[in-house]
Amino acid sequence: MWVPWTGSARLLLLLASMCRGLSSGSQELRYPPNRIAVIGAGIGGTSAAYFLRQKFGKDVLIDVFERGAVGGRLATVNLEGEDYEAGGAVIHPLNLHMKHFVKELGLSAPKSQGGLMGIYNGDEFVFEESSWYIWNFVKLLWHYGLNPLRMSMWVEEILDKFMRIYRYQAHDYAFSSSEGLLHALGGAEFLHMLNQTIDESMQKSGFSHKFINEIVTSVMRVNYGQGTNINGFVGAVSLAGADSGLWSVEGGNKLVCTGLLYASKAQLIPGTVISIEEKTRQNGRSGGSVKLYEVTYNSTSGLASDAYNIVLIATPLNRKIANITFLNFKPPIPEFSKPYQETVATFVHGHINASFFGYQDPSYFHLSGIFTIEDPKLFINSMGIVGPVKDRKDVLNPLLGPRVWKIFSPQPLTTEQMNFLFLSYDTTTVKTWLAYPHYSPPEKCPPIILHSRMYYLNSIEWAASAMEMSAISAKNAALLAYHHWYEKMDMIDQEDLHERLKTEL
Ligand SMILES: Cc1cc2nc3c(=O)[nH]c(=O)nc-3n(C[C@H](O)[C@H](O)[C@H](O)COP(=O)(O)OP(=O)(O)OC[C@H]3O[C@@H](n4cnc5c(N)ncnc54)[C@H](O)[C@@H]3O)c2cc1C
Ligand SMILES: *[C@@H]1O[C@H](CO)[C@@H](O)[C@H](O)[C@H]1NC(C)=O
Ligand SMILES: *[C@@H]1O[C@H](CO)[C@@H](O)[C@H](O)[C@H]1NC(C)=O
Ligand SMILES: *[C@@H]1O[C@H](CO)[C@@H](O)[C@H](O)[C@H]1NC(C)=O
Ligand SMILES: *[C@@H]1O[C@H](CO)[C@@H](O)[C@H](O)[C@H]1NC(C)=O
Repeated sequence: MWVPWTGSARLLLLLASMCRGLSSGSQELRYPPNRIAVIGAGIGGTSAAYFLRQKFGKDVLIDVFERGAVGGRLATVNLEGEDYEAGGAVIHPLNLHMKHFVKELGLSAPKSQGGLMGIYNGDEFVFEESSWYIWNFVKLLWHYGLNPLRMSMWVEEILDKFMRIYRYQAHDYAFSSSEGLLHALGGAEFLHMLNQTIDESMQKSGFSHKFINEIVTSVMRVNYGQGTNINGFVGAVSLAGADSGLWSVEGGNKLVCTGLLYASKAQLIPGTVISIEEKTRQNGRSGGSVKLYEVTYNSTSGLASDAYNIVLIATPLNRKIANITFLNFKPPIPEFSKPYQETVATFVHGHINASFFGYQDPSYFHLSGIFTIEDPKLFINSMGIVGPVKDRKDVLNPLLGPRVWKIFSPQPLTTEQMNFLFLSYDTTTVKTWLAYPHYSPPEKCPPIILHSRMYYLNSIEWAASAMEMSAISAKNAALLAYHHWYEKMDMIDQEDLHERLKTEL
């Protein structure tokens, strides 16, 4: 029998529970936020602005603070009228966010040229490529057995799992910690890689000492200015960075940042953020109170402050890099004082001194990339011939006269060292970076959520620092901010996404 009373009672109960839901202390959160601040206009901050606009819609005001040039660690230097990549240079073919940005922004992305590479140990080359492909293959087999082949399989397996992030993010899933994100991709195995060195990870997987000490070390030194004592995860990312098919953006990688900033319709505020303070304000709309973050910054017109509903911090919070003071937070925001690795990039237009690298007859010298292994005698991490970011020509043959070499070293090069490396040189340009974390596993990533609506993107750098990692973290933080704001907690930290999304398709 149908009892009308029961029906309307149910309706009343439903209405009552809806009202309770709406008034549960978060009434303001039903509206879109008014203002969002992003601190830093590197690839992390500018891609965050882009993803925030996608999620929160056209009405929210997004301010991006930048102390220096848009691009941050994506920057070019000028040498004799041409621009060269001085920071983040190459992008992996499977870095899907970077690929998407370039396409969306109408930029073009030529492949990097691959010249011939040698590994120098301070006395001689322990391995040298030749222009004959088959001979290289035989030499690799002779020196390292099946290690190189096994390495590409090992890296591919890790990359396969890593690629799950794109699926999760396409479905809007977010993670509240960098460790949580890694766990969702590769389980305990990925987390374990943060706890051990790439040396330990690869030894356990059966790679030979010789292979690790020569090939793996030289790749770590060129990409991260550190040896095989960096964590296993960043080590694997670094090895993927030695794959073929790497590319960079015509005109400079930083064009992605300026393009994203423009596409996001965010406002760029040139200035240095000095402090962030939590404030409570009366809300005109509801009469209740709202929590806001007051961002104080120094610009050419002096000190100024603005209040925001949400803040994304897209710069390393290392005092030597960002030095932002957090005022009146309870509990206080912790210090993230772990050091960043200093790497000096020196650009030199000159003739390399092949006899310094052990060549009796310099006319046999044909390498365009010199990698190194660990040796106290060595004062460089790597050196290689580079082409300008525009109109790359055939620049890689060192025999064709003076070339532009890019040298990475832990300290600035002295004149004496320059005179060893070059027979003659004219111009040089030097750029010193606090480049990437100084890794020392066991590694723990700082939190992403610093406060209820304040997020720290560069947490992920402690797992691995790369352009794509910053873009992934930016999308994750934009999704987190969105789900927190609209209380969609079922989109955060979900278990077994891999299995669940399999059946969903
Ligand atoms: C020499 C070198 C080589 C590299 N090679 C590669 C590579 O080949 N491939 C790759 O994928 N990655 C590479 N990387 C790493 C890559 O460049 C970085 O991981 C990535 O660019 C970091 O981007 P981000 O936006 O997170 O940080 P950043 O680019 O550092 O951006 C942070 C921004 O915040 C600004 N800022 C800081 N403090 C404040 C403040 N208080 N107020 C306002 N603004 C502030 C800074 O000026 C900066 O512009 C390399 C890095 C270096 C240095
Ligand atoms: C990593 O090491 C930390 C301690 O440094 C430990 O708490 C954690 O359980 C370890 N995780 C894994 C997956 O080994
Ligand atoms: C702000 O910048 C000016 C000029 O660059 C500098 O003199 C001043 O000390 C800065 N103020 C603060 C509080 O950092
Ligand atoms: C950071 O800023 C504080 C004040 O805002 C200042 O006292 C301190 O010297 C700064 N530290 C560095 C490393 O610049
Ligand atoms: C070149 O290298 C050799 C061997 O190390 C060294 O003796 C010489 O001084 C270097 N410089 C020049 C300009 O030849």
